[in-house]
Amino acid sequence: MKLFLDTAHIDDIRTASEWGILDGVTTNPTLAAKEGMEFPDLVKTITDIVPGPVSAEVVSPDRDEMVAQGKELAQIADNVVVKVPLTRHGVAAGARLVDVGVKINVTLVFSPAQALLAANIGATFVSPFLGRVDDIGNDGLDLLAEIVQIYGVQAYETEVLAASLRHPQHVVESAKIGADIATMPFAVMEKLFNHPLTDIGNERFNQDWAAYQEALRSGG
Ligand code: E4P
Repeated sequence: MKLFLDTAHIDDIRTASEWGILDGVTTNPTLAAKEGMEFPDLVKTITDIVPGPVSAEVVSPDRDEMVAQGKELAQIADNVVVKVPLTRHGVAAGARLVDVGVKINVTLVFSPAQALLAANIGATFVSPFLGRVDDIGNDGLDLLAEIVQIYGVQAYETEVLAASLRHPQHVVESAKIGADIATMPFAVMEKLFNHPLTDIGNERFNQDWAAYQEALRSGG
């Protein structure tokens, strides 16, 4: 399963990229709004750091405007993936973008029926929002499992991108279920590293190594 960051914050993207584990980035209008930069410049900066797919979302109630925005975003860099919402206009815009060779990520997906539509128009990615499903008292992981099952049975090529992940267990369970990608906030990605036994063990190894070197230096 590939690991994406769900952020538009450049410092965090740089840090995760330096860790060597970053396969791509997803942004959305809410995340972009926090960064105080023109959106095309922001997307360009991210694509300069990350060679993998970078999702950039169109924002309009109108199909043709979404198509025009999507074409502009796609010109920013080869690795831009245009995010369209799972609305009637969004799906119609997505289908048109796919027809002209633009890769799309269908976002705001909350049901298996919606995921069928995304696959049907040839989306590169479909993004079920697990955390937001949990927020309303349903199980986001069940939604993910249903989508993965349907896509497997139907041999759809659209990749399942588990989104709206809130904690490391969401990431681990998404991997078990068979998501192709998990996108997560920086804070969640950081937590993937953490285990107290790693810290204790590492400290012990460092101390023992230092004592060993010291013993060699002092001849005994
Ligand atoms: C997906 O691409 C979205 O940007 C994101 O995962 C939304 O997550 P949230 O529910 O934490 O806002």
